[in-house]
Amino acid sequence: MATRKPLLVANWKMHKTVEESRAYVRHFLDLLADRDITADLVICPPATSIWAVDRLLQGTPWATGAQNIDLGQEGPMTGALSGYLLYEAGARYVIVGHSERRQHFGENNQVVAQKAQAAHAAGLCPIICIGEKEDEFLAGRTEAVLAEQLEPVMTALSAAAFSGAVIAYEPIWAIGTGRVPTPEDAARLAGAIRAMIRAVHGPVSDQVRVLYGGSVSPENILDFRRVHEIDGVLVGGASLQAQKFVHLAEAWNA
Ligand code: PGA
Repeated sequence: MATRKPLLVANWKMHKTVEESRAYVRHFLDLLADRDITADLVICPPATSIWAVDRLLQGTPWATGAQNIDLGQEGPMTGALSGYLLYEAGARYVIVGHSERRQHFGENNQVVAQKAQAAHAAGLCPIICIGEKEDEFLAGRTEAVLAEQLEPVMTALSAAAFSGAVIAYEPIWAIGTGRVPTPEDAARLAGAIRAMIRAVHGPVSDQVRVLYGGSVSPENILDFRRVHEIDGVLVGGASLQAQKFVHLAEAWNA
């Protein structure tokens, strides 16, 4: 079985100016200077700060990511940011299909699949978010919802392309709420996701990193760290302070 390098992703959402982003990254690098972190760490600032964050992260093991990608490469698409532009600005990862994009920007499973494909074509690693609503969880529909969300993505990406993708399992009811699934549920669902990938793309499923996201904090991270099927975390609120994010990375080393 492939060994998968742990991955921790900071999703700042709509927070931090360029100056605040720079101050964060300087502090982050100071904190990491004398620490031996085994995971990949990725910072996803607002698009306005990608370039500035990447300049500071150059020459370090850490990477910059975008929070969204638009379709196309160049052209008359006012306001849009293609994978080509994001890559050139320094992004190497991109979050695709976050539930907030699905909810507020009307992104459906087909659009998410096209975005995952556009990310891959631009040389970006897509971090594809899937997750169920609370009523779906309570009705025992989680696996069915995850399958509906994953299938178009698995069709859009070849097995080779999929091997470099990341899946983030984020129960919508856990995002920003302080509530998290039990480690048993998280293990079962991460395992179910990998089994779905295996059924379509075969052994590359062993290479795909499956993250957990939703109210990850220094208090609960070890519960997810202990789950063999979970390869890291996607962190919102707790990633906004460099100290907390570094603390999470250190906890993942344990
Ligand atoms: P949260 O956000 O950690 O603040 O719950 C996670 C996410 O939305 O990716």
